[in-house]
Amino acid sequence: MKIGFGELDLDKKGTLVVGVLEGRTLSRSAEELEKRTGGAISRALKSSKFKGKSGDLLEILAPAKLAASRILLFGLGKPGESSEGKVQEMGGGLAGLLLSYPEAEAHIALDAMQGGLGTAGFAANLALGARLKAYRFDRYRTKEGKEDKPTLDRLDIMLAAASEAKKRFANLDKLAEGVVFARDLISEPANVIYPDSFAARMKPLARLGLKVEVLGLAQLKRLGMGALIGVAQGSVRPPAVVVLRWTGARPQVAPIAFVGKGVTFDSGGLSLKTAKGMEDMKWDMAGSAAVVGTMMALAGRKAKVNAVGLVGLVENMPSGAAQRPGDVVKSLSGQTIEVLNTDAEGRLVLADVLWYAQTRFKPAAMINLATLTGAIIVALGHEHAGLFSNNDALAERLLAAGKLTGETLWRMPLGDSYDQQLKSPIADMKNIGDAGSAGSVVAAQFLQRFVQNVPWAHLDIAGVAWSNKERPITPKGAVGWGVRLLDRLVGDYYEAAR
Ligand code: BES
Ligand code: MN
Ligand code: ZN
Repeated sequence: MKIGFGELDLDKKGTLVVGVLEGRTLSRSAEELEKRTGGAISRALKSSKFKGKSGDLLEILAPAKLAASRILLFGLGKPGESSEGKVQEMGGGLAGLLLSYPEAEAHIALDAMQGGLGTAGFAANLALGARLKAYRFDRYRTKEGKEDKPTLDRLDIMLAAASEAKKRFANLDKLAEGVVFARDLISEPANVIYPDSFAARMKPLARLGLKVEVLGLAQLKRLGMGALIGVAQGSVRPPAVVVLRWTGARPQVAPIAFVGKGVTFDSGGLSLKTAKGMEDMKWDMAGSAAVVGTMMALAGRKAKVNAVGLVGLVENMPSGAAQRPGDVVKSLSGQTIEVLNTDAEGRLVLADVLWYAQTRFKPAAMINLATLTGAIIVALGHEHAGLFSNNDALAERLLAAGKLTGETLWRMPLGDSYDQQLKSPIADMKNIGDAGSAGSVVAAQFLQRFVQNVPWAHLDIAGVAWSNKERPITPKGAVGWGVRLLDRLVGDYYEAAR
């Protein structure tokens, strides 16, 4: 689906989309169509529940005297009330319906809008939502029925400020590329994406101006990443750590660091998961995908920030070579860990990558993303990611960026009393706490043991990385959660004035 911006013109073919404000106030274009069709809009409104609330949609088929084959009334809500996330969701909802029509083209008429994002900002965010909703991962479908494949190939947004909207969308399109790239990585099965193949997909990102560095097993051994290597040792696939660097500010400015859990398949290891529990585990690298997508978005729009993205890539498998429950490993930090449950592997990977990120890059702030615990799904379901932080200012910034983008977070506690659960009789700590007792918090406490004095946040995204139902700007499946959030966080708080 191609997205374009152009002049207002109501003589188009296909679907013509016009706005209606809350309370059924017609936009100028809607007024115009009402006149041209001899009252088709008011007649349709009379027999409908359409109110003009943000996201409301009403279809009018085969209107008389128009080139278009249908009119779609599009609720705009109250003037200027919408955040970027809300407008993206409106664009997604609209695209969802447009994609179900047997049409090749759709044209959205946007009349001047007061307040909020302005008409151009509204148009650009609408387009982003539509683009993200139109995402499909169909690489492996060889004989899909033609009828399910959307026919829409042109989405045109018509407004007076078309060139301004086009400019605004150029940056958002880079963001979309980051989200889509993340979704592709997440959707790929584990026989296609494993540490080496994930790392190989990072190499071409150099075209965006990212520095890409891959640390292989030999180097990880030399560095002393015993916790990460222990997880990988049961797999025939060697582990890797990839470092992505974007320098958009003066080189001496301390970077913001993003760290991702990249377990390309989590069988649980010898603490083997059930068949059901394993079904979802190809996407146990969604945290890493979000880090990569964010770095792409920042580089793509040449953000005035220094950022580093690090991903810890391993496959967690059982085998004769696998790590055993009770094994003790030595982490890069020097601290020893008794691995009582090989299925609590994400924290072992992150322990080493977090430590490495801090010692090498001395970041101004560090944020990690991980599908870390099933317990966060019990606590928060699929509506919020869990936020754990040692720094209130950073936590507030993340919460605010979450509200604006719709990638919302809920802050969870940290505290010494939880940390007690990690005491081991033979090593500095064990990798699990008491069963059924604040599992997500204890996992976060474990990570915190590898955080020095840097503002740090851990986002547990196990509940939001994959969606079993369609969402406003996401089809079923990989969400690419976190890319829009972190791009907004950087834009609002870490970037030199744009
Ligand atoms: N990758 C899982 C967490 C997960 C579960 C993510 C479901 C997405 C959906 C993680 O590695 C894991 O297995 N965690 C264990 C920890 C436990 C052994 C302490 C869990 O949550 O059961
Ligand atoms: Mn696990
Ligand atoms: Zn896992």
